[in-house]
Parts: sequence; structure tokens; C-alpha cells
Amino acid sequence: MTSHSPQASPRTWLVTGASRGLGAGIVRAALDAGDRVVATARRRETLAEALGPDGENLLTLALDVTRPEQVQAAVDAALGRFGGIDVLVNNAGYGHLSVFEESTPEDVQAQFDTNVFGLMQVTRAVLPSMRARRTGRIFNISSVGGIVGGESGTLYCTSKFAVEGFSESLAGEVRRFGIHVTVVEPGFFRTDFLEPTSVRHGASAIADYAAVSADLKAFYDARSRNQAGDPLRFGKALVTLADAPTPPVRWSAGTDALGMVQAKITSLQAELDAWRELSASTDGDFEFRPEAATATAWR
Ligand SMILES: NC(=O)c1ccc[n+]([C@@H]2O[C@H](COP(=O)([O-])OP(=O)(O)OC[C@H]3O[C@@H](n4cnc5c(N)ncnc54)[C@H](OP(=O)(O)O)[C@@H]3O)[C@@H](O)[C@H]2O)c1
Repeated sequence: MTSHSPQASPRTWLVTGASRGLGAGIVRAALDAGDRVVATARRRETLAEALGPDGENLLTLALDVTRPEQVQAAVDAALGRFGGIDVLVNNAGYGHLSVFEESTPEDVQAQFDTNVFGLMQVTRAVLPSMRARRTGRIFNISSVGGIVGGESGTLYCTSKFAVEGFSESLAGEVRRFGIHVTVVEPGFFRTDFLEPTSVRHGASAIADYAAVSADLKAFYDARSRNQAGDPLRFGKALVTLADAPTPPVRWSAGTDALGMVQAKITSLQAELDAWRELSASTDGDFEFRPEAATATAWR
């Protein structure tokens, strides 16, 4: 673990998808640390049920991340109440878990509207105030599915790969303003994620996929309420990262995530090595001056 220096004065967090699961765990951990939290979810009453009434350190707001007008209103309300947002946690999301061909274009749009476009919208609304204050932390909740593609998680993994690319790129852009972006890859955590209230599956059934779809649906159903990850411990770990002077750009949560990310690194390395000669063969014979390109980002 990197060294960290606990914050002296309370920070203000804004957490999306805070009514349940990881989001609720993050809110509880931040409140336990003495911080102030703007907790948001689609229906405000679900926040009161999960977190109790608003108080000095807790402001609950209705925020559907797919509705831009609600995004700006929530950020304005947070800034009006607490003066600044120190930590943004883009946590709202769900999994559309089916093979690609059993999904529809509307399923793709809906998955991206929440997991990607909503996350970007909230980030766009929060960044100007962080930039003005030259400080901030952004945690984008991705998934091991943002590192490892898996059959029957195609739409979900695609959306989380997008979150990874967005976060890694943004981290470089805003570091100069004292803003740190960390993309988080949880493994399986004990939340509603795989419950019918959250997960979505493909509506159409294609006979060729019947066996794999049934197999993976059975796996997800058996895994629900049978995950190793604890949302409150996840929240406490984010508080630790929020305290870290130099937080990582990527952070994996859970021993299952550690194993899956490690396996991906190993397989990437093996494929790179196995095809290295062919990869190197595509450079042209023309004159090439790498030093002519001066931007630092792609060196
Ligand atoms: N649990 C896992 O195993 C796991 C693993 C890897 C990554 N993740 C990621 O962790 C994040 C949280 O998931 P979870 O496991 O805590 O699932 P969860 O228990 O189902 O909670 C999902 C949360 O997201 C909110 N949400 C969904 N759509 C929203 C929208 N359009 N606008 C605002 N809020 C919305 C829900 O709010 P409502 O109450 O309004 O529905 C709820 O608070 C997700 O991004 C998920 O992809 C979870």
C-alpha cells in the first residue's frame, strides 16, 4: 500500500448510484471518515432508505446520470451547499449480460447511456469547479470487465473498456491541474449487481447460443449473493486512495480481480512476444523522424 496522509479538514464527495451496493458502501465509509457526501441516485427516497435522513454531512439528491439536466442541477446543488467537490465517484452503472447477437441496438444504447455517456456527462459538469480550485479526485468505477473481455458480458465489457480509455486519457489531461483520475476495477462484490433489479439479459434467444447462454446465466445466478467482495471495505479502500498523495491511475479491488488482471497482463505479454517479429515487420522503408512529433502523450 502507498503511504497516505489522512485529510485534516473534511472533504466533499459526490457519489452517483449511491442507493445500493458499492455506492452505498462508499457513502458510509466517507461519512465514517468525517467527510461530507452528496449521495445521488435515480429516486431520492431510495437514498433515505439506505443512508438515513439528510444531515450536516449528508445531502441526498435525485440524479439519473442519463438525464443531463439532472446532472447539472445536482452538481450546482452540491457546489451551492458545500462550496466545492473534492472527490467525484462515478459509480452508477449496470450490467447487460448476454451474448452480442441476443442483444438489440437499443440495449447497446442503453448500456452506453448509463455506463459511459452518463459518466462522461457527470465528469464534464464537475471538472470546471475542480479545475478552478486546482484540486480534485475522480474515481471512475469500471470493472475487471474493463480489462478482460468475456463472452456473455459483451455489451457490459465494451462499456467498461470505454470507461478505461476515457479515464486513462483524462488522467493525463487534468493532472496538470492537480486533479487525479483513478479507474477502479472491482471483481465480484456482494451487491444487487446480479439481481433482477439491476442486471439485464438479452430479450431474444438464438438457438445456436442456447447452451452458452444457459450456462452463463446459471453461473451469474449462482454467483449472486455469493461474491467475496464487501461494499463497505471497498468504500474504506476508496477513502485510503482519496488520502494518497499520488493515487494510481488503475486500481483493482478484490483478490479475484487481482487474479484476472494478472492473467490478462500475462496473456498480453505472451501474445506480444509470440507475434513480435510480425508486428515489427510493418514499419516502412521511408525516412522516419520520431523526434519530429513533439506531443508528449503518445511517446
Ligand atoms: N458488484 C460487482 O460485482 C461489480 C463488479 C464490477 C463493477 N461493478 C460496478 O460497480 C458499480 C456499482 O454497481 P453495484 O455492484 O453496486 O450494483 P447495484 O447494487 O445494482 O447498484 C447500482 C447502483 O447504480 C445506480 N444506477 C443504475 N442506473 C443508474 C442511472 N441511470 N442513474 C443513476 N444511478 C443509476 C442504482 O441506482 P437506482 O437505485 O436508482 O437503481 C444503484 O444505486 C457499477 O458501475 C458496476 O458496473 C460492480
